[in-house]
Amino acid sequence: MANIAVLASGSGSNFQSITEAINKTEHKVVCLICDRKDAYVFERAKVLGIKSYYVPYYKREKEDVEKEIDQILSSSECHLVALAGFMRIFSSYIIDRWSNKIINIHPSLLPKYPGAHGIEESYYSGDLEMGVTIHYVDTGMDTGPVIYQESFTRRENETLESAEEEIHKIEHRAYPEILIKKLDSINKTV
Ligand code: GRF
Repeated sequence: MANIAVLASGSGSNFQSITEAINKTEHKVVCLICDRKDAYVFERAKVLGIKSYYVPYYKREKEDVEKEIDQILSSSECHLVALAGFMRIFSSYIIDRWSNKIINIHPSLLPKYPGAHGIEESYYSGDLEMGVTIHYVDTGMDTGPVIYQESFTRRENETLESAEEEIHKIEHRAYPEILIKKLDSINKTV
């Protein structure tokens, strides 16, 4: 059995799909960490029975915030960390301590369209292929080594809304699958 923590900032639909999938395995989602007090993900955590922590960044030194996050991760005895719509960039303080153990999902085919508007930028680029990227996290913005990518071909009459829907459908299936594979391989070495 291996433990995973999820960090999110917003709605938390990925947090929910990760938790529901992991609940069917021997692994465990040990906690949610969120930097926005009113984020809907807290409601989802309550319903799913996952312990949640609010860790604000506002008017704090980044290193102090990251120390707090590091302490929560360590005391939760987690082996892997999944970012799911977590809108912050980590410094080397966290990255060095959790090297190759932090994974992110991004809604574009990186290295194209990193940042907060991956879906809109992919859609308005006119690219025929759109998709998602799951990657290790480093100190850059969506720059870490790619673990998995999945694309789909823009359909006739594709709207921004229908493209978004397709991307989330892929995310909600692929992200839990990749995370569970990682947890399985950690399990063998623990
Ligand atoms: C997802 O599209 C994810 O790829 C991106 O942020 C979004 C989070 O959505 N990093 P949700 O909060 O999981 O619903």
